[in-house]
Amino acid sequence: MPNQTNILFLTANTTFSKLLSFSLETNFNFKITQYAESSPIESILDSRNNYFLMVCDGSVPKKEVSSCLEKAKRVGLQIPIMVLGTQSYLEDFKTEGAILIDRENALVGVEDSVKKLFVENPMIKPLEYCPVQFRLLTAFDSLQCDVYIKMPTGRYLKIFKQEDLIVDEDVVKYERKGVEALYLKKKTAFWILKEVRNNYSNVYNAFEKGDKAKIKSPPKDIDTSPGESENEEDPNSLASAIADLKGHAEEKSQEKIEKQLDGTFKISKEFKKDVDKKVKKAVKIMSKSAKVKGLLKKLKVNRNPDQYCKIHVNLLVKLTAAFANLLEWNTETTLEKLIFVSYMHDITLVDHPHLARIQDLKEFEAIKSTLTKEEIELFLNHPEDIRKMVENMDEHPVEADKIIYQHHEHSDGSGFPNKLSTSRILPLSALFIMAHDLTNYIIDHPDWNLEAYTARCKEKYVGANFTKIIRKLGELKT
Ligand SMILES: [Fe+2]
Ligand SMILES: [Fe+2]
Repeated sequence: MPNQTNILFLTANTTFSKLLSFSLETNFNFKITQYAESSPIESILDSRNNYFLMVCDGSVPKKEVSSCLEKAKRVGLQIPIMVLGTQSYLEDFKTEGAILIDRENALVGVEDSVKKLFVENPMIKPLEYCPVQFRLLTAFDSLQCDVYIKMPTGRYLKIFKQEDLIVDEDVVKYERKGVEALYLKKKTAFWILKEVRNNYSNVYNAFEKGDKAKIKSPPKDIDTSPGESENEEDPNSLASAIADLKGHAEEKSQEKIEKQLDGTFKISKEFKKDVDKKVKKAVKIMSKSAKVKGLLKKLKVNRNPDQYCKIHVNLLVKLTAAFANLLEWNTETTLEKLIFVSYMHDITLVDHPHLARIQDLKEFEAIKSTLTKEEIELFLNHPEDIRKMVENMDEHPVEADKIIYQHHEHSDGSGFPNKLSTSRILPLSALFIMAHDLTNYIIDHPDWNLEAYTARCKEKYVGANFTKIIRKLGELKT
């Protein structure tokens, strides 16, 4: 991936500076280094020359800006320098060769100047998730949108849903946990910037006075891909949703995932039909329990902006069936059992996709501090809770409860809730655990290939039940 363009920003830490950074990061994918004084900038100008633009904001004393301009001249720095300020602030810099921008029109002014200065690099695309400072979001009055944090693994986890109101106390809570930067999906970020541009003088004046600014919240389905199919069993809808989820909206990528799955696992049309029938049967059994029926309905909601649970389940059904086929464990009862388990295993997390995305205790520990007590309990107890739900269901497939109870165990003994060793994990649980792992791997890597995945598995899994599956996967020709 090409490097981001580095820019220097001399400014006090104000809401205005947060807004301008948000605009530059979202529109141009710039990497911003911010200072409130000129002295550290001076040493950077001396030692390195990898900055392409310097922006000085009128929130710092004039002498700091002058010092920067002088230093830049002395070291022969050939980069554009913008100074933002009121007319009287800018007066002193008229002969300095800097680009002067009226602060009262700064958002459009800076964007326009940057567009004139930089030839667009087609390799640098706008980010799928745009960083935004927490305190900028709460500087708007009752702004509601989906908000994410970035995990150490690079995955993005939704921490606020659009219906949640983000308030100042949230900022304090998250700051204490070391979370300052949040992320918005690209379309949400652009929406906010458009709203700010359209109401700039109100927003600017409110921020300058320390008041909250009013803008409209983005529409609820802004990040849902347009034209999403109503038919949830449609394979294209599944693939496009996966692609959308990971920001790979290209058609080729969608087709590739579908073709790869069908081709790699030799999934025939008849087999797909058979799986569909078994899905219907599993759904019928589940619907007999009023509690499960309600949760199932939520899983099927087509307009749910976070498609994770639905995608996860649809892909999992396909992969557990494909694995069973591969291992020749494809009796009617085994397939029915695996499909039932695929649907049920995370059902209590359907309203909490950010919890359903957590794959193991390591990931859980990494974000534990951002979760509420209820969320922690819900996550840690879901294998047990769902096992009990299944036990209380009439006609549930034999052993389905046990597989669900074991679905977060790991062959190296690091799983939960029981830290089982590999020999105590049932063969069908091992199959499910690996199909579940591959499901998440595909969601995280839309350009996946089986070879890379199998190599990863050899390192990750131990024990006869797991190695048997890995061996079989290795025999498949891609
Ligand atoms: Fe899951
Ligand atoms: Fe789970």
